[in-house]
Amino acid sequence: MTQPSLPQLPPHLHPSASRSTVFHPRLAALLRDHRGKDVFRLEPDTIGVAGHESADRILSVRKATETERPTFKPLLGRSIAPAEAASVMRTVGRDVREALKKPLPEKVDLAGPWPITGHIFLRDLILGGDPYRLRILMSRNLELTTKLTWSVIAAGAAFPLPMKPRPGAELTALARRTAEATNYRDRRYAMGMYRRAAAPVCFTVSTLVANAMWLGSPFDRSTPDRNILYESMRLLPPSWNLLRNASPEYPALDPAIEASDDILVLPLLSHRDPALWDAPDEFRPERWDSLDPDTAPGYLAFGHGSERCWGRHAVMPLAELLLGLLRRDNLTVDPRQTSAKVPLAGLLGVDEVRLTRSGP
Ligand code: HEM
Repeated sequence: MTQPSLPQLPPHLHPSASRSTVFHPRLAALLRDHRGKDVFRLEPDTIGVAGHESADRILSVRKATETERPTFKPLLGRSIAPAEAASVMRTVGRDVREALKKPLPEKVDLAGPWPITGHIFLRDLILGGDPYRLRILMSRNLELTTKLTWSVIAAGAAFPLPMKPRPGAELTALARRTAEATNYRDRRYAMGMYRRAAAPVCFTVSTLVANAMWLGSPFDRSTPDRNILYESMRLLPPSWNLLRNASPEYPALDPAIEASDDILVLPLLSHRDPALWDAPDEFRPERWDSLDPDTAPGYLAFGHGSERCWGRHAVMPLAELLLGLLRRDNLTVDPRQTSAKVPLAGLLGVDEVRLTRSGP
């Protein structure tokens, strides 16, 4: 059974109106002090940018360097050539398409704490056939320290990986790349790449869907999943800041920028700029009926037109699949949960949302 159409409740009577989203004090201060501003000093060596035209100029004047890139930064001191990055992304895309072809599980219990429940569901859906030594690299605990991640990788790389999938399953194309490495050094590198490329799929999609549930569930049946997801990324952009290190092009773009300043472009702020959005703090998925996320001024959820996220074609269908399952099964936020924290982290999202079944 699908979620019933809600009677047209005024926003203040919708169940989400009783939920408060508590930003980490640094994020709350950013919103309080700089929302609606254009270019401003954040630190002695860092400039913040929230105005959409300035953000546009900064992001288009040069491409991101390899150390600014979120996914394909150098790995074990080795630069990742564009051709290798593209090939890894094709591999991830293939694995996600294979996972999406599988029949939807009739019975799956997605109630419980999110995003972890969604993370585990995606890990098993996409990487379920891969050996334990690879799947353990998806653990959220490994976020804690890079050192911990590398010790798990080093232990796992000590012996060749079995080419055989788990019984009744198939290896992902990403795991096959890892299994083809013939010595310890290459295996360590390949496992690092597995973590780099596969982990964000599980982490980002489960976070995005948890944010959506927190911000707006239960949703009206007629609201498309895409609108819900774009609106969630507006209010809680998973990639809330885009770093560009000091560079000779920048001072010419704005007198406030010094040659030694790093720049943080802040979708967190441009997505709530009152000059760009009606009712900027309200969750209104219907605004996306007439807006295009690729061209809406100031909307940078997947980055700038000059270099948009390479993972978005995998992220969106997976997030729609997950959100569709939650809506199909009438899951919503536990009414006893009235607040959720948004920690200061690279991936912005509510730290825990408890989902329960709301209907039959
Ligand atoms: C909700 C999910 C995601 C969001 C909101 C997101 C957002 C972004 C943003 C804003 C950028 C531009 C960064 C900049 O210009 O500095 C970007 C770039 C990129 N993203 Fe994503 N991303 C998501 C998921 C993923 C996933 C799952 C992958 C890969 C498996 C991925 C791979 C990339 C790559 C390869 C780039 C290009 C730069 C680089 O090499 O790192 N993204 N993404």
